[in-house]
Amino acid sequence: MNTLTGPRPRTGATAADIQAHYDIGKDFYALWLDPGLTYSCALWDGITGAPGNTDLLAQAQHAKLRYHLEQAGITAGSRLLDIGCGWGSLLRTAVEETGAGRAVGLTLSADQHAHVRSLGLPGVDVAVQDWRDHEPDDGYDGIVSIGAFEHFTHQGMSRDERIDAYRSFFARCAGWLPPLGRLSLQTIALTDDTNHEDSVPDFFAREVFPGSGLPRLSEIATACEPYFAITRLREDGADYARTLRGWSSRLFQAREEAQRLVGPDAYLRYRTYLRASEIVFMRQASTLYRITLRRRPERRRLGPPSGGQAFPQ
Ligand SMILES: C[S@@+](CC[C@H](N)C(=O)[O-])C[C@H]1O[C@@H](n2cnc3c(N)ncnc32)[C@H](O)[C@@H]1O
Repeated sequence: MNTLTGPRPRTGATAADIQAHYDIGKDFYALWLDPGLTYSCALWDGITGAPGNTDLLAQAQHAKLRYHLEQAGITAGSRLLDIGCGWGSLLRTAVEETGAGRAVGLTLSADQHAHVRSLGLPGVDVAVQDWRDHEPDDGYDGIVSIGAFEHFTHQGMSRDERIDAYRSFFARCAGWLPPLGRLSLQTIALTDDTNHEDSVPDFFAREVFPGSGLPRLSEIATACEPYFAITRLREDGADYARTLRGWSSRLFQAREEAQRLVGPDAYLRYRTYLRASEIVFMRQASTLYRITLRRRPERRRLGPPSGGQAFPQ
């Protein structure tokens, strides 16, 4: 606690915000996500055909998971942290395919936590825990965070406030990694031509992802600077448009069951959000970044953000 100003103001989505979106029910998401329940942009390199096809969607999601594990340097015996682990597809891939020795997942969703536990994966631990509260006994060899960064700030924060919040995230990640350890981050971002105040981001913040807001690439670069070097950057907005087209066509095909599970209003809200998001990516108002970051061996001269932690030596 900051004794001058009282408790640190909350930034980004709370557990209640997250649960409002993710805990509508796994059975509903299972109707239109791939069988592994990966809920983020897939990687469509070299994959052609209708994105709503179950096998192709699963293939593209699997390619994305393997990409991030490789970028984070996860190999046999590695210790992995997955920040925003969803329903556990990356954790499963890490222990079953890469041979990771330990894979820890953090989520704010009770439903996701229950599901990951029910998988009974050896070497996997999952907690309903905000990364801000995570205090592991040991460090990690690599960190992956896919589709969670969008929840770390909320609409209405200034650029400086967002950078401050993101810098706290990078400071904590750096503290859990060895020098030169890698963080593989995937996030939606606003492009330079889009304002936070635009009606479309507003719609998402109000109707779909309460308490959340999108970063810009320059904010990420500024925020990570004292702790990480960016070693690889992919801009894959077209991949997200394609993933969304797949999800939305699958949801439409399953519309009767979907409405039975969540009711007509929620069905319509999701369908609108998936279609609108596809258009946003096609028009390049938002884009998708996959960013590989390598922990700096030493702290740079820039100070930590207010409330952030010092860089561990
Ligand atoms: C869009 S889902 C992505 C899930 C998974 N990475 C995937 O690709 O399927 C976002 C995830 O971030 C988690 N999340 C959001 N804010 C978080 C926070 N502050 N701490 C930990 N997890 C968070 C949510 O609970 C959810 O699991």
